[in-house]
Amino acid sequence: MGGAVGAAAAVALPAVQAQGAEAGSIDPASAPVFHGAHQAGIATPAQGHLTLVAFTLLPRTDRAALGRLFRTWTQSIDALMAGRPAPGDAAPELAGPGSRLTVTVGVGAEAVALNPRAEAVDLTIPAFTIDRLEPRWTGGDLVLQVCADDSTTVHHAVRMLTRDAAPFARPAWSQSGFNGQRPSGPPRNLMGLIEGTGNPPASGEVFNDAVWTTQGPAWLTGGTVMAVRRIRMGLDAWDTVPEDERDKAIGRRVQDGAPRGRKSIADSADFDLLDTLPSATHVHGDGSQHLHRSAPVGLAIPDDAHIRRAHPAFNDGRRNFRRAYSYSDAIDDAGLVFIAFQADLDAFIGIQRSLAKADALNAWTTPVGSAAFAILPGCEPGDWLGRTLIEA
Ligand code: HEM
Repeated sequence: MGGAVGAAAAVALPAVQAQGAEAGSIDPASAPVFHGAHQAGIATPAQGHLTLVAFTLLPRTDRAALGRLFRTWTQSIDALMAGRPAPGDAAPELAGPGSRLTVTVGVGAEAVALNPRAEAVDLTIPAFTIDRLEPRWTGGDLVLQVCADDSTTVHHAVRMLTRDAAPFARPAWSQSGFNGQRPSGPPRNLMGLIEGTGNPPASGEVFNDAVWTTQGPAWLTGGTVMAVRRIRMGLDAWDTVPEDERDKAIGRRVQDGAPRGRKSIADSADFDLLDTLPSATHVHGDGSQHLHRSAPVGLAIPDDAHIRRAHPAFNDGRRNFRRAYSYSDAIDDAGLVFIAFQADLDAFIGIQRSLAKADALNAWTTPVGSAAFAILPGCEPGDWLGRTLIEA
């Protein structure tokens, strides 16, 4: 018996496939590390599966109690990410290495307010005309973003951490998703669009400036702000849209992700390029003929194209890092668990405002959930997540 277990343990785990749409310098197959200046699950190349759980604080949870929860979560997350059972794990056989598990912890405004000495951070997403928000997907006092390459590992971590939270907070909502990895071709969302191209590489100066909070409250230094939008897609309507109209709506060719008017997905978008019609012969009333060569007919990337409306150049330089997952809860309820990280929520709000005004994609997408959280800075060994907030 013992020999059989030993033999099974010696069988090599299949190599974790390269994941993630973003090209960063981080090895996509390497196990994420819990300790450090920043939490994992942000710059980490996207894993295959996501569950996002928001919690509501129980009325008796005060600053000291929240500190106890953060210390417990720190221990459990440290163990689970290392492939060990959490302390008191009810299902230790479900813990194990190789899944690239990350757990990312954030706080909503109410949790921040438990410590009156902690400087507040703006986490209010204004109402947009495109919103059809449902309370069951909106708000929350705490959040856990749990990602791994397999859904059993995600589920186990969510359950153990929710159990840890029970004396302090109850789940408000949870959303699960998968990223668009397929055996061949680039990852695509459920509208068939290749996503992540315009993201800054997940390391380096542009990413660091866009994502990590340095100018906000001292307790958030090294953290970031997460915007969550649950966006339902009108897939049946999208199915009927001609290919060129789809390309124009996004500003990129659906087929290969190249910006309209450019050759390849690696090319940057040229927002001044004009669209052209093929040469055409025009016959005048007197019978004379005139050849129209490639007449310009408007912008290659129209004014209402998603990538124009969202681009930093048209948003006063505002930039964020998107790490979205697809969801499918029913055949007529599918879309995007949109997650974006930014140093300050203003970056998200500015871009979202520009999209709400005139994004062509709005015809097929409806935000049904909305939330924002301050993602705590990381912690070094011996320290715990959230200490800077609790001890501010
Ligand atoms: C269901 C809704 C959405 C879909 C299907 C969608 C899809 C896409 C696609 C296919 C691209 C081009 C490839 C890429 O750069 O990733 C893109 C770009 C982008 N999207 Fe979205 N998106 C959605 C919602 C949003 C929202 C809510 C925001 C922010 C408020 C946003 C911000 C951006 C940004 C900043 C870019 C990059 C623009 C650039 O610099 O080229 N998107 N999106």
